[in-house]
Amino acid sequence: MINKQMVQFPLTYNDRIGGVIVGWGAHEMVADEAKKAGIKNALITTTGLKGTGIVDEVIGILKHHGISSTVYDKVSSNPRDTEVYEAAKVFKDAGCDGVVSVGGGSSHDAGKGVRALASNPGANLCDMAARVDPPWMEVIGRFKPNTIPQVSVNTTAGTGAESTMGGAIIDTKNRAKMFCVVPNLAPSCALNDPALIRLMPSNLIAWTGFDAFSHAFESYVCKLSSPLNQGAMIHVIKLIAENLREFAYNKMDYKACENICWASCSAGVALGFGGGVGIVHGLGHGLSVLYDIHHGLANAVVTLGIERYNQKCVPEKFAEMARAMGVDTTGMTKMEASDMWFYETERLLNDLGIKSGGLKEQFGMKKEDIPHIVKNQYENDFARQGNPRDFNFNESVQLLEEQL
Ligand SMILES: [Fe+2]
Repeated sequence: MINKQMVQFPLTYNDRIGGVIVGWGAHEMVADEAKKAGIKNALITTTGLKGTGIVDEVIGILKHHGISSTVYDKVSSNPRDTEVYEAAKVFKDAGCDGVVSVGGGSSHDAGKGVRALASNPGANLCDMAARVDPPWMEVIGRFKPNTIPQVSVNTTAGTGAESTMGGAIIDTKNRAKMFCVVPNLAPSCALNDPALIRLMPSNLIAWTGFDAFSHAFESYVCKLSSPLNQGAMIHVIKLIAENLREFAYNKMDYKACENICWASCSAGVALGFGGGVGIVHGLGHGLSVLYDIHHGLANAVVTLGIERYNQKCVPEKFAEMARAMGVDTTGMTKMEASDMWFYETERLLNDLGIKSGGLKEQFGMKKEDIPHIVKNQYENDFARQGNPRDFNFNESVQLLEEQL
């Protein structure tokens, strides 16, 4: 007898992803890739990137190649469903036939939401989410696959959203982050240009870089991890350990910049190769929604506490990740070697100026908000399914209270 509750689980998925271009000057390919995808009239989704000139530059390249565009620049750092509805109206009113997202994960994910709505007129965006209850694979079957192209011009090095198959968007009614996953939502092509990524301020380099790191370590220890993604993820861990400090504190270090660019985009692509994330992202999402904390920072502050909870299940994987961070574990026991990952990660966080835990002091987190986060995010987030250690409501509440 098959246990139907497990039906989504023992299977390893390789999601469809689009093209990926990496390298100095990659953003100049935006018009060629938009044309290849069939875009003649683009909606540009962006946070605005004020002061960088990047949005104007993209508009100019598109125009030079005969592609018209309309800009929606009100995307927040944690994009909300209300903004996506607003952008979808602009898309429709301007007669757009495709999206060009310019920015980091927020801009790309808002663009994905616009495409999901344009492919499913009248649908509720937040119904198209990967939830545990109701089971998302049944729910998603009710929606039409996306048919609208998107070219993503990436300006941060962390989220991987320029390539991934879903959009992380705040469900404002339920005060939770949801992951919109109608089929074919991965952008047609992602442009990762170190020349744009180098324009980030140092704190954003640290936060977004740690997000890429958290994709790698969560995916590596995840129940859904497979040979398809493990090789890439362990290399991402090595690249981050060797280059994130250098890039954060010296943006003229072009090699470190390029390596972080590769780390970020590799982790994004490898997430599509069947690896998932876990409860660091689950809690990080909850924190971002309630206290408007940057996604990468939210993951970073809870990493050590949450992964200590997971360590007992998969110590050998933590030991492998410690070795990828440069630790010689010869002569150590499995648990001693796995402890070294925590030591190295704590040192990385300290070097980046990120304080672990202390969520009340750092962000004003309230104890009474914890049940809401557990009920609406933790317990019903697709990220939960891959977490290496099972957990129930009370265990989750206790784990979060320890982070206060
Ligand atoms: Fe993330």
